[in-house]
Amino acid sequence: MKKVTMLDIAKMAGVSKATVSMVLSKRDHSISEETKNKVLDLAKEMNYIPNSLARSLSTKRTGTIGIILPDITNPFFSSIARAIEDEASLLGYNVIFCNTDSEINKEEKYIKLLISKLVDGVIFIAGGESENSVIMLKNNNVPFVLVDRYIDTHEEEYGVYALNKEGVLQGIEYLYNKGNERIAFVKGPKNLELSRQRLDGYEYSMNKYGIYNKKLIFEGDFTIEGGIKATKEILKSIDEIDAIFYSNDAMALGGIKVLLKNGFKVPEDIRVLGFDNIEISEIFEPELTTVAQPIYEMGKQSCKLLIDVIKGNKVENKQIYFQTKVIVRETS
Ligand code: RIB
Repeated sequence: MKKVTMLDIAKMAGVSKATVSMVLSKRDHSISEETKNKVLDLAKEMNYIPNSLARSLSTKRTGTIGIILPDITNPFFSSIARAIEDEASLLGYNVIFCNTDSEINKEEKYIKLLISKLVDGVIFIAGGESENSVIMLKNNNVPFVLVDRYIDTHEEEYGVYALNKEGVLQGIEYLYNKGNERIAFVKGPKNLELSRQRLDGYEYSMNKYGIYNKKLIFEGDFTIEGGIKATKEILKSIDEIDAIFYSNDAMALGGIKVLLKNGFKVPEDIRVLGFDNIEISEIFEPELTTVAQPIYEMGKQSCKLLIDVIKGNKVENKQIYFQTKVIVRETS
């Protein structure tokens, strides 16, 4: 069946194609109500679907934003993506999700794809050494907002972040005040500034309490598997341990499985603290105590900020920082 065009509607309505175009693109202030209604009724009756590519070539807008995420299977990213999509549709934008698995070549391929698709802007959660990805966006004048993961471009970019170091300070203070001193720390991926910020918070606060011991620091990668691996390492190399602080909830959940399988009781024998406050943390058994990031709000604000930038609206602050807070549950 032939696709209905504006010319078909014009012929049926007995008006010019230009009139139909003005009515359908709401540039119809000089057109009578009668003609406007006739055109709109016909477009509906004939199931007319606007050609978005043709429209975007004329308006230089596609009404679409791209979202680049490192790992859609991690509930932190799927929750933040959900918040962005909710806000985008409220503001009349469609979204294109790109999952990079934190692989830089995949990330750069998606950046090129989004640029070629003429997206109006990009919300970018970097997978690692993503400087080149950001340079491509800047070189193509694509508005973007960095979220969660800071990338140093030697310029102040639009960004939405949690206060990571302060979040870890809160976590250690909480554990210390409950009598925990031998607190192991499982790091995030080493190629992320955010992992260094969280480690910095751990080292600063452990030194402040005079209980720092670098043997209590273990490698991690933000995955459940990574949490399992790190916890087995901790049990193998450390005799006495009071608590384990994981740099994200996914690793903490993996770690709890290992502790329980090895006969430890949580929290009686070992306390566990995570970071994120993903939804499953509350329903997991035992329920996970964690340093909560305001995930939904971060996603919502990043979308609002990007669309303000796209529209050229006045922006108060180029960077928005969110406080974290300790959510106390059963594992501590
Ligand atoms: O759980 C995923 C982690 O990666 C979170 O801590 C978030 O901050 C992201 O960077």
